[in-house]
Amino acid sequence: MPKKTAPALLTVRGISRTFGDRTILDGVDLDVAEGEAVGVVGPNGSGKSTLLRCIVGADEADAGEAELTGRALDEREPSIRRDLAVVMDDLDFFPDLSVVEHLDLVARAHAQPDAEEIVNVVLDEVGLMEVSGQLPSTLSSGQRRRLALASAFVRPRLLLVLDEPEARLDVGGVHWLGEKLVAEKAAGRGILLVSHDPDLVERVCDRVVRLGPTADDT
Ligand SMILES: Nc1ncnc2c1ncn2[C@@H]1O[C@H](COP(=O)(O)OP(=O)(O)OP(=O)(O)O)[C@@H](O)[C@H]1O
Ligand SMILES: [Mg+2]
Repeated sequence: MPKKTAPALLTVRGISRTFGDRTILDGVDLDVAEGEAVGVVGPNGSGKSTLLRCIVGADEADAGEAELTGRALDEREPSIRRDLAVVMDDLDFFPDLSVVEHLDLVARAHAQPDAEEIVNVVLDEVGLMEVSGQLPSTLSSGQRRRLALASAFVRPRLLLVLDEPEARLDVGGVHWLGEKLVAEKAAGRGILLVSHDPDLVERVCDRVVRLGPTADDT
């Protein structure tokens, strides 16, 4: 359970988003404290990805604000990017960098100390060591998801924002992901997790925010 005294990392207040005449998000509030994971669940189309995009500044909410340790949260802001690791469903890699080159670049660009060692550890953890010399286009879809997750874990981070990180992972991969996220919390990091996997949410999340009209789909 979250420690009541843990400082707030992420504070979200009154996020609303309308597309045309459809109100997708109507005044969503949530908080994530250090060492805490908050799940966001709900049916397809209920606004989970839209909420994450509004929070990280990839989409503009019609109303509301998000703060990371008291600073307005905008992915374009370098001091925010340093503390925020985001894995959304839009995977994008440099086409002519190998797996290891990609991770090395991400680690160094975020001034990760001991980049080489951390890249090696994470490559091993996510099971991409054997394909570390391959280009992204030659990876399987699950391996590409693993590369996206690895990109978040090779860099410094206070808060992880993850949109269906379990997608396309095999059973062993989902198990590893659960363990990794529990370890992230133990290291004091915060997690905002959108997921359709009830077991993963149960294992990792301290609290759950439910979006959409029905409560029976996660
Ligand atoms: N740019 C946009 N223009 C118009 N409608 C949009 C736009 N982005 C999202 N929507 C709509 O907002 C709703 C919520 O979409 P969103 O992707 O946030 O759902 P979700 O909860 O992440 O669903 P899933 O579980 O399928 O990932 C959908 O009805 C979608 O069509
Ligand atoms: Mg989504």
